[in-house]
Amino acid sequence: MGAPNDAGHRSDLFPITLPTLKTGLVLRHPDPISGALYSAVELLPDNRGTLVLNQRRLPLEETYEHVVGVDHMAEAIRTLKVRGAPSIGVAAAYGMVLAALPETGDAASFTAAMHAGGALLAATRPTAVNLAWAIGKMLDRATTAAGESPDARVASLAECARSLHRAEVAACKKMGALVADRVKDGATILTHCNAGALATAGFGSALGVVRAARAQGKDVRVIACETRPVLQGARMTAWELAKDGIPVTLITDSMVAQLMARGGVDLVVVGADRIARSGDVANKIGTYGVACLARVHEIPFYVAAPWSTFDMDCARGADIPIEQRDPEEVLSFPTRDGAVRIAPEGVSAQNPSFDVTPARLVTAIFTERGVIDPVTEAGVRALA
Ligand code: MRU
Repeated sequence: MGAPNDAGHRSDLFPITLPTLKTGLVLRHPDPISGALYSAVELLPDNRGTLVLNQRRLPLEETYEHVVGVDHMAEAIRTLKVRGAPSIGVAAAYGMVLAALPETGDAASFTAAMHAGGALLAATRPTAVNLAWAIGKMLDRATTAAGESPDARVASLAECARSLHRAEVAACKKMGALVADRVKDGATILTHCNAGALATAGFGSALGVVRAARAQGKDVRVIACETRPVLQGARMTAWELAKDGIPVTLITDSMVAQLMARGGVDLVVVGADRIARSGDVANKIGTYGVACLARVHEIPFYVAAPWSTFDMDCARGADIPIEQRDPEEVLSFPTRDGAVRIAPEGVSAQNPSFDVTPARLVTAIFTERGVIDPVTEAGVRALA
């Protein structure tokens, strides 16, 4: 293993030196549920607004936006300021608190406003089921609280959203420890996209495994795929791990096969956006390719995801809606202030944001409820 570099981490292949970070509005929250010095999203102590870390500006700027309205939160989710399946679930839950804030009318008008807010948030992104799951939980609470005073309704919804957030972080810690038990000291873990604290509103699912393994005293290191087109791996995974002093080596997505063929990967761990009853897993575009390569090279391919990512109403992967994003993301390369065009004018592009890895390519799925291994519908049902 190479010597520590300026960022305090070791890397044999391509050392990452992050540019100087500029801090904009820092996280000023007395008790962030994320449990870290940064957080994807937090509800302010007085319940009157939220702080959203604008992930579009990472890693060059760590800037928090004060989000105070449900429409503003919907826009933050749609534009990937807050992203990652569990994080957008938590953000939507807090968005429902924001929807309740201006509502001083009777139970019927409050209920109508909550349903309108829920519909607005649910329409932002189609693949991650955590969004609909969190909104459903908040609507249940809104029904229970509808007859109370406006202040009591907001307090009740805030309590529900915070406990949902706490549960997601606790789930990550639990499944992280479960997978970490299978990780050998010195292992190199490949991950795709960002399934870290930024994506789960604290600790992380795939990166939670890395954190848990290190907490067990294991000297693990990470290979992060850059994850085109939006570069969640290069920008967020590298940022989080470098911040924690965890060794991380960045590769382009096209380097996975070569690295695996040379014995440079011991296991793969990724997160998920939706898991069907069959155990088929939707995750960031490119995950399916990594899973195929892992199978060819006989490398374990693990998925770590909270139960909120399972959709028992969805029979199989083919039924999972796949978000189609703006082709401009493919035709351009993201920069600090937007994007620079890399393809000639007039060229078309496709941009499916997620793909589906069939259950047969997944070695095991880890959740806070236990391990699914082998990955079969019976195994999923056993935890339901
Ligand atoms: O488009 P994004 O950045 O929201 O996609 C995120 C992913 O695909 C993550 O891998 C997934 O949500 C798992 S996060 C724990």
